[in-house]
Amino acid sequence: MFLRNYWYVGAYSDEVTCEPLGRVLLGEPVVLYRTEAGAPVALEDRCAHRLLPLSMGKVIGDAIQCHYHALEFDGTGACVRIPGQERIPPQMKVKSYPVVERDNCVFVWMGDAKDADESKVPEIFGKLCQDGWSATKVHCHVEGNYQLVIDNLLDLSHLATVHASTVGSMHVADMANVETERDGDRVKVSRWTMDVPAAKTYQQFGNYESNIDRWQISEFFPPSYFRINNGSAVAGTGAREGTGEKPWDFWVCHGITPSTQDSTHYFWHLGHRLWTDNMADVEEFYEQCYGVVGEDIAVFEAQQKTINLDPAAPMREIGYDAGPLLARQIIDRLLEEEAAQKSGKAA
Ligand code: FES
Ligand SMILES: [Fe+2]
Repeated sequence: MFLRNYWYVGAYSDEVTCEPLGRVLLGEPVVLYRTEAGAPVALEDRCAHRLLPLSMGKVIGDAIQCHYHALEFDGTGACVRIPGQERIPPQMKVKSYPVVERDNCVFVWMGDAKDADESKVPEIFGKLCQDGWSATKVHCHVEGNYQLVIDNLLDLSHLATVHASTVGSMHVADMANVETERDGDRVKVSRWTMDVPAAKTYQQFGNYESNIDRWQISEFFPPSYFRINNGSAVAGTGAREGTGEKPWDFWVCHGITPSTQDSTHYFWHLGHRLWTDNMADVEEFYEQCYGVVGEDIAVFEAQQKTINLDPAAPMREIGYDAGPLLARQIIDRLLEEEAAQKSGKAA
């Protein structure tokens, strides 16, 4: 079950070209491409004739041609050509999805098209596109359920072990002061770890000679977006008040789009004020961060494998699960509301 009445990241802008891109979003096959004028299009990736994915075909002008019998469908999903046949039956069409392109992303509306409201496109990645900032991004396909990713990002104590060779140290699990707040359907988990030695990445790029105060502020909002600020300053110099010495921080924004029940598209976008003009340093920082993403994905995929062996196996809770549990409650309630809305419409 997925929340449908939302804008999801379908692809980064630079992934959508005049070559068709096939992707499964919320269990539905979707093909993305651009028209001659450059506008993104999202259509059902399943030819109305014999169900071949349209993404195996090619874009001709503003339409996409199926690879099998060369039927063509325009950006609205209407069939506009059947070779050797004048008449086009009205049912020969595919679903088209509303799309909005913003902040280097193509957002796709996965609910009823008539409910698509452009004003609800999330303000998520724009922060990372500022003057004087540097940013990088990756799209990963994860063989794991999207809620495993949400759990992970609302409990950053896992840095202690999963990312011990770069951004983590045991202090963030053992010594953090954690506060969980709810604002409507948003969840914010703030972790402060005071007066501890810098983990490797923080030491290397923050260039600290003494202990640090370190923060990890993770904000979730439905259906599955995150904005996370990680940073540090010299211990005892006012990090919490924003006046700490040698502040070093970065933001990571995440668009998490379910693909199937046990796979997920993970759009990860990191940005920061440039702390150096040595771009080799910045590149090395990014390499460490890509490594962190890979370490998380290894965890999600291993979890999913054990879940698949026995989907009924219970998950037990610890104190740090307050944030993840809140997010799960919010998603469950919103799923119930969508189901009730749908059955009300059907009645
Ligand atoms: S399956 Fe697409 S044209 Fe026949
Ligand atoms: Fe992680």
